[in-house]
Amino acid sequence: MIVLGIETSCDETAAAVVNDGRRILGESLLSQLEAHEPFGGVVPEIAARAHLEYADHVVGQAMGRSGVTFADLDGVAAAAGPGLIGGVMVGVMTAKAIAAVHDLPFAAVNHLEGHALTARLTDDVAFPYLLLLVSGGHCQLLAVEGVGAYRRLGTTIDDSLGEAFDKTAKMLGLGYPGGPAVEKAALAGNAARFALPRPMRGRPGCHFSFSGLKTAVRQTLMALPEGKLETADIADLCASFQAAAGDVVVERCGHAIRMVRQTHPAIGTLVVAGGVAANAYLRGRLGELAKAESLRLVAPPQRLCTDNGVMIAWAGLERLRLGLADGLDFAPRPRWPLDPDAPPATGAGVKA
Ligand code: KG4
Ligand code: ZN
Repeated sequence: MIVLGIETSCDETAAAVVNDGRRILGESLLSQLEAHEPFGGVVPEIAARAHLEYADHVVGQAMGRSGVTFADLDGVAAAAGPGLIGGVMVGVMTAKAIAAVHDLPFAAVNHLEGHALTARLTDDVAFPYLLLLVSGGHCQLLAVEGVGAYRRLGTTIDDSLGEAFDKTAKMLGLGYPGGPAVEKAALAGNAARFALPRPMRGRPGCHFSFSGLKTAVRQTLMALPEGKLETADIADLCASFQAAAGDVVVERCGHAIRMVRQTHPAIGTLVVAGGVAANAYLRGRLGELAKAESLRLVAPPQRLCTDNGVMIAWAGLERLRLGLADGLDFAPRPRWPLDPDAPPATGAGVKA
């Protein structure tokens, strides 16, 4: 089976072709970083227009690199939400047009399911597994029981971890996107210099909260001598922030492991996915946790953690081989929780 996938839900225009032998046949990715950088974040209108301009080119490039023709495809998939609706519509319309012209089944893929299933392409992980999904828009712990079968154990009650990284970077003048910049600066920093809070520590369950940590970074920054922010201060604050985030993630994942073992006592794998999973420090901390809990940690290669076309092509393939095709009238969904039955988390700025 060979499937083309298209990703346009945020600021990457991406496409890829994968097969059911877990091989990536061809891929293409165009990042809009430069277009959004002056604004310090993604501007939805600019993103949508850029997707419109580049989608055909990116699809053509992925197809060209894969060496297959549209006639060789068994299906076409697009991220159909959650995400910035203008961009999502571009990807979905592109995929639907290809499906209609070449008479192919169409799969409307939940972007989060793309992140969730990537580990099955890269490492052949079997269901069920525990998933920590940490991206710019989401921070969730899920029991992944099958394609389309997710049980949410915890989520953030305010900011996502990616947002906390991005906002910390912005306050420190490190630019956008913040995650990689904070990680790089932290390498030279002293994590013990600033005592930042570990939100939710000691509380039962596995919800997250990061807004207090973000506020603490701002207050720490304001307490430093004005106009004299040295490179070492930035490095120390980044390292202290990352250590706090690491402690929070490890503690909440520990709770999730105990929770998931109640229903799946033999669970053997902890998967980390989403953009923040590219962070080597957090991967290291999760590796230690997994080892202590006798679990295998699977973290896809960094380029498959941040948004890409491969994850959508693979999730589409997983759905299509189960017969889960969607109609060409499928409407994009700006909000689309993986576990619609999860009770709402209570908190100030709750996301999906
Ligand atoms: O999954 P993703 O590419 O897009 C969303 O679906 O949101 O995630 C983007 C997020 C951004 O917040 C970015 O700062 C963060 O992932 N990120 C990182 C790193 N690389 C990307 N955060 C921490 N460390 C990194 N190395
Ligand atoms: Zn994503």
